[in-house]
Amino acid sequence: MDLSRLRDDFPLLKRKHIRYFDTAATSLTPRPVVARMKDYYENLSANVHRGVYTLSHEATEQYEAARATIARFINAFPEECVFTRGASGALNMVALGLAEKIAEGDEIVVSELEHHSNFLPWLHLAKKRRAKLVFVPLTDEGRITTENFASVLTERTKIVALTHVSNVLGYTTPVEEITRLAREKEAYVVIDAAQSVPHIPVDVKRIGCDFLVFSSHKALGPTGLGVLYGKKERLEEMDPIEYGGDMVDLAEKDHATWQDPPIKFETGTPPIAEVLGFAEAVRYMERIGRAEIKRHGENLRAHTMEKLRAMEGVTIHNESTEGSLISFNIDGVHPHDAVTILDSEGFALRAGHHCAQPLMAWLSVPATLRASFYIYNTISECDGLVEAVGRARDYFLSP
Ligand SMILES: Cc1ncc(COP(=O)(O)O)c(C=O)c1O
Repeated sequence: MDLSRLRDDFPLLKRKHIRYFDTAATSLTPRPVVARMKDYYENLSANVHRGVYTLSHEATEQYEAARATIARFINAFPEECVFTRGASGALNMVALGLAEKIAEGDEIVVSELEHHSNFLPWLHLAKKRRAKLVFVPLTDEGRITTENFASVLTERTKIVALTHVSNVLGYTTPVEEITRLAREKEAYVVIDAAQSVPHIPVDVKRIGCDFLVFSSHKALGPTGLGVLYGKKERLEEMDPIEYGGDMVDLAEKDHATWQDPPIKFETGTPPIAEVLGFAEAVRYMERIGRAEIKRHGENLRAHTMEKLRAMEGVTIHNESTEGSLISFNIDGVHPHDAVTILDSEGFALRAGHHCAQPLMAWLSVPATLRASFYIYNTISECDGLVEAVGRARDYFLSP
């Protein structure tokens, strides 16, 4: 498929000089997604689940159909998919939902690769319950392997919370094998799939995990929305996280009962337009095919990496053959300074700790530059980026 013709779906790319390399933070939004949300506001706009009139019925039908589309995308059942406030909201929900199951001395396994959103909720939970946070040792390259994971798995392991694809290094964690080992110890497995769902096929049944989270806004959808997948029995055994409208079944003065999952976890009016928009984004990705999305991102990464590798004064942190992003530094130049120059030429890429400070400590750098690639990027944009990195290096380092 020639992906370059999709660029017309992204009006932002027509803005003069803009070359967008920050999809790992947030992807651009294609026209059909915006159109779907506009259509809801212009032609429907009613609330879901509660109204006993035509518009509300239609809104409910569309909202639940969108849930089914999104669930199918990860091979889940609709009732296993809860809409949340981003991947961060989903991870916080799981940590709160599992809190009661953690006792003093229990172990929660994470890694230094984690985004803060899959680290801080567990750090907080461990402190609160006097549990131990255990880190999977990374390989020299910065990977989680099954062997390294097995080396920290014990009878006390209660939760395993790991990234599927690292947002800084782009490596894929062997989540199927890890889940199998963790389930043998009856530990809950939580997978942060914020960086995998937009790029590679993700099948929750195949992985076998208890929970898996992802974001809409990194996968062509609107901001502020995430998905918490939970195995049916896991969501059933978890208490509600928030209380209020919609999630309640019956409320009496001294007693209340709850709806079944997923509504049990969706308190108040949900982000209806966003859910419809995200289902449209899923259809958009399905039309392209995730094998094609993966191939395109990896091609651009490989092409750019080869050129950056040949440049003097550039250190690449993920010298690998997988993933759709590159983390690098211009030696002796703070990424914030470098990115200021790149921005002045219209290159939008991320500089910072990428919400992964433990990983920055592991890499022994305060921050990195990160270029991430997606369906709308082209080889000529990548070539332009490499040349601009060279100019930024010369600006700061030439005598
Ligand atoms: C790996 C990973 N997990 C979680 C998040 C948080 O996602 P959200 O912005 O949807 O809360 C991000 C965002 O950068 C991420 O890259």
